[in-house]
Amino acid sequence: MNGFYRATVASNIAFLKYWGKRDKALQWPANDSLSMTLDQLKTETRARLYQGDDHLFRFEGRVYTRQTRQFDKAFRHLDELARLLGEERRLEIDTLNHFPIGAGMASSASGLAALTIATLAAWLDAPTFDRLAAQGFSAERLAHLSRLGSGSAGRSLFGGYVVWEAGVTADQQRVWPFAPATAWNLRDTVVVCSADEKSLSSSDAHQEAWSSPLFKPRLAGLPERMKAMQAALERRDMESLGPLLETEALEMHAVIMTAGQPHQYLAEASLDFLVRLRNARQAGKVQAYFTIDAGPNIHVIHEASEHEKLCQWLKSEYPTQLLLHDKVGSGPQLEYVSH
Ligand code: PMV
Repeated sequence: MNGFYRATVASNIAFLKYWGKRDKALQWPANDSLSMTLDQLKTETRARLYQGDDHLFRFEGRVYTRQTRQFDKAFRHLDELARLLGEERRLEIDTLNHFPIGAGMASSASGLAALTIATLAAWLDAPTFDRLAAQGFSAERLAHLSRLGSGSAGRSLFGGYVVWEAGVTADQQRVWPFAPATAWNLRDTVVVCSADEKSLSSSDAHQEAWSSPLFKPRLAGLPERMKAMQAALERRDMESLGPLLETEALEMHAVIMTAGQPHQYLAEASLDFLVRLRNARQAGKVQAYFTIDAGPNIHVIHEASEHEKLCQWLKSEYPTQLLLHDKVGSGPQLEYVSH
């Protein structure tokens, strides 16, 4: 067999954010989080065994070594997986992103999850998720391994709406599918406000969050917000979910903006957009709500039935704006391909 094991994994957008770690070494989050797995913003990674001194790693057709800063995290994750599985065999790995490079979209969730699945499939000669599960690597265990590379990556192992529970001890944490994609067909229209690289990595932000005076009050209020979000998802109630999404995103940004070493991810264009969206909503022009990850881009969450109206409004307000259109997705794929 000389083909590749190919994993295709979509990114996810957090509705309730993972922000702050209780323990860095254990990748133990400070709070439970909830996300929507996407459909189009995805990473495709294929892997096969390779005879060489080190892994052969290509991104978008170009070879990178472990000395490249940009892929340092990928190599470290490969080393960690090898250590955990007692593997020494090297791999040839090819990865590409299905979203525009340079659009400032974080790719660590889809990237690290795709890398984890393809790596394990190649080492274990498992071309399907059933075969991986038969060898002890269920979706839940794959989620656990993926989150060691990037916390949010664990949630991309399932489709639909996904919870990552922190647990009372680090080994109790668990990623599980709260509701399938078919439960509610939500859309995510991404307004690309700036393509700049993140100026503060999320790992540094997770450490820095603790120094904000807003962080502990935030943690105290999150269980209630989680309950309310889950109830809104169950009822498919956008008017309840929407304001929760916005409060959550603004709170996450407020935490980092008030940290010991304050930082802002938002660009002027991001703030301008937030104000205009809220005004348009109040004027009854659109029924859509924002959320924002650790970057300047705005994710506009809305029901499928609102998409056309939102696009028209965006076109009239921001005629040249770069937009990415996505929706809730049904989860990762794994297959064996001959090339
Ligand atoms: O997975 P990390 O370490 O890149 O952290 C992700 C943090 C946020 O995207 C801002 C929130 C989240 O829950 O995805």
